[in-house]
Amino acid sequence: MERTLCLVKPNATAKNHIGEIIARFEKKGLAVRGLKMLRLTKTQAEAFYAVHHGKPFFADLVDFMTSGTIVAMLLEGDNAVKLARETMGATDPAKAAEGTIRKDFADSMTANAVHGSDSPENAAIEGAFFFSKAEVTLL
Ligand code: RTP
Ligand code: MG
Repeated sequence: MERTLCLVKPNATAKNHIGEIIARFEKKGLAVRGLKMLRLTKTQAEAFYAVHHGKPFFADLVDFMTSGTIVAMLLEGDNAVKLARETMGATDPAKAAEGTIRKDFADSMTANAVHGSDSPENAAIEGAFFFSKAEVTLL
């Protein structure tokens, strides 16, 4: 069993796609083990995306991620990191495969509906960013 951290980004929450996106993950066999809605501050968004600091899209990404509410979820299952990213589709919605979340709900490369951790190591770090131990160990 593996866990991953996924986010429903502000463009998708604004368009009422929260339930549909969670359902896409659940239909692939991923179990929701933590769930919360929140709005990131600029400082929090910069910290969450610190790995992208200095890249040309960083400022736009932080602006977008702080523009509205997001939903953070911990998903659990076999190969959860890879399975969640396959369910999400390619970063660029123009390249996302049919049936993926980004193909159906992304509005642009930046406003691409979802985030998913890219490794089990980063999933642990990103999971701890949004959820306390007490929130996930009793579930
Ligand atoms: P994510 O982290 O959101 O799951 O997406 P990812 O691994 O597929 O993409 P990553 O390279 O980690 O980029 C993080 C987010 O930054 C925005 N981005 N914009 N305009 C651009 O060239 C560009 N490149 C990346 C996207 O919102 C991407 O999800
Ligand atoms: Mg990434």
